[in-house]
Amino acid sequence: MEVVGPPLRWVGDANWTLAAANFAGDASHLPTAHGYGAALGMDPSGGRRQGYFLHTAHGHTANLGLAMPGVLDTPYLGLPENLLPELEQHLTAEQLQILKPLISIAGTVFPNFSFLDISGASFLSAAAIDQPVSFLSARQWQPRGVGAVEVWTWLFMDPHAPEWWKDTSRACYLRAFGPAGNHEQDDMENWGEINAGLRGATARHLDLQFRMGLEVTPADDWPGPGTAYRTFGDLNERAFYDEWRRRMGNV
Ligand SMILES: [Fe+2]
Repeated sequence: MEVVGPPLRWVGDANWTLAAANFAGDASHLPTAHGYGAALGMDPSGGRRQGYFLHTAHGHTANLGLAMPGVLDTPYLGLPENLLPELEQHLTAEQLQILKPLISIAGTVFPNFSFLDISGASFLSAAAIDQPVSFLSARQWQPRGVGAVEVWTWLFMDPHAPEWWKDTSRACYLRAFGPAGNHEQDDMENWGEINAGLRGATARHLDLQFRMGLEVTPADDWPGPGTAYRTFGDLNERAFYDEWRRRMGNV
């Protein structure tokens, strides 16, 4: 992989854990915080998706978005066809089986390194929704105090992808993420408001609730590694904050 250009950097007015936990597993904010996608016909999942939430030891997390059958046909995360033989050569049958219907993957390597790969060129226009292009980005959430985070983001590109694919991938990424990306700044605004709300007189005396999905049992069809669930919930946020609490010595 090659890194495209220098990292994009900016400072947001939120605690770094909000960003890391969001990438770890906050699927429930997609239809609200990023509701413009569905409203404008730019949501590649058609507003519906299935997937896995998984976490491994030490608080590492990922959430995998899979297309509903027949909704979006961009196999292998919209990678260019000339790269597929390489995938088939290096990945196991189980890995290929998981990867083929993927339309998005996001996650956090504990504590503050997150990654994101989204297929479909719908960030450019609704007309390009089925275009088989994706982008891969990583970001570092660098704490700058209780209420500030410095974000570093990188865009990765396979050097063997066709030039048209690279151009479209980069355009999608810049339209949606980074300091001028509409998707990413949806989040930054929310995290800033959450941070401000949590410092209020009432919020200081309340416990945050991460109880969604307490009763959910692990998926029995996940080939591993880690523990995976097929249901929506605060599953990965709990894995993230459990590890954070252990590391802070507050078990
Ligand atoms: Fe978001």
